[in-house]
Amino acid sequence: MKRLLVTGASGMLGRDVATVFDKLGYEVFALSHKELDITRPQSIEHAFGEFQPDVIVNCAAFTRVDECEANQQAAFNVNARGPALLASACRKESIYLVHVSTDYVFDGQSNIPYKEIDLPNPINVYGQSKLEGEIRIRQILKDYLIVRTSWLFGPSGPNFITTILRLADEQQKLRIVDDQRGSPTYTRDLARAIAELVENQVTGLCHCVNTRACTWFELADFVLANMAIKDTHLIPVPTKDFPRPAKRPLFSVLDTGLFQQLTGHGLRPWQEAVSEYLKEFGRDKALTIAP
Ligand SMILES: NC(=O)c1ccc[n+]([C@@H]2O[C@H](COP(=O)([O-])OP(=O)(O)OC[C@H]3O[C@@H](n4cnc5c(N)ncnc54)[C@H](OP(=O)(O)O)[C@@H]3O)[C@@H](O)[C@H]2O)c1
Repeated sequence: MKRLLVTGASGMLGRDVATVFDKLGYEVFALSHKELDITRPQSIEHAFGEFQPDVIVNCAAFTRVDECEANQQAAFNVNARGPALLASACRKESIYLVHVSTDYVFDGQSNIPYKEIDLPNPINVYGQSKLEGEIRIRQILKDYLIVRTSWLFGPSGPNFITTILRLADEQQKLRIVDDQRGSPTYTRDLARAIAELVENQVTGLCHCVNTRACTWFELADFVLANMAIKDTHLIPVPTKDFPRPAKRPLFSVLDTGLFQQLTGHGLRPWQEAVSEYLKEFGRDKALTIAP
């Protein structure tokens, strides 16, 4: 039986990754931030010694994009130095490292989906720190897998959809950005996709998102329609009307051609994934009151 360690395992993606691999028959060690801090070499050494994993899936990250701007050092520590420390430990023990990265490594100037060969050019600290994490892994390891994804939602954490449901409960009018385009991706689908890549021992860089794309406004509109919420009116606004500490790429759709080539199929369209998520969790009060 293969032994698999998940870092950041109490995060939104980490929980689903642990569940999916457990179902596949792996012996899973799902470690929270408290149990394994990827920025502390001793913490890594201790966990590797105790659990002797064959595979690591690194779901640990500093993901609060706006907070990264004022906390550059902390962002680089978790998103770049942490993955480098994991990679060095993996090299020593010949462990297969799977690392999760982001669409925000791109500047959003394109209007065709980004491929793995396209040049990254991050426009915020989060994206810069995540790109640095990718670069450092590539420098340290020959065999690794980096999976870039985008706009995650799932049952285990606050996300854009939970925010919309909460705000719709409180307000009759919501202004939502309508000029940023990306692919909402269900953590369950992504976890299964990662498992498929791991089972096939894929190495290198692979983009992995639910297919089709939308703006945040279109996603919010879909969510409210799906939940039959009629008393909240959505107003589309441009990014410039919504100043935030971190700049966002206007277009960060990822091309999934390589994933399709590797596995013989794509992930389902985001609309199907969101519908399933809302059917299962949409009426859950814990979701609607999430921060
Ligand atoms: N969320 C998105 O929309 C999105 C989009 C593209 C890519 N991604 C990438 O997908 C991956 C998973 O994201 P997610 O949304 O699941 O994030 P998340 O819910 O914020 O989970 C990240 C986890 O990492 C933990 N963590 C933070 N610092 C750590 C450290 N030093 N050592 C160990 N654990 C640490 C956090 O614990 P604490 O909270 O206790 O600190 C949290 O449990 C990340 O690599 C992220 O960059 C996410």
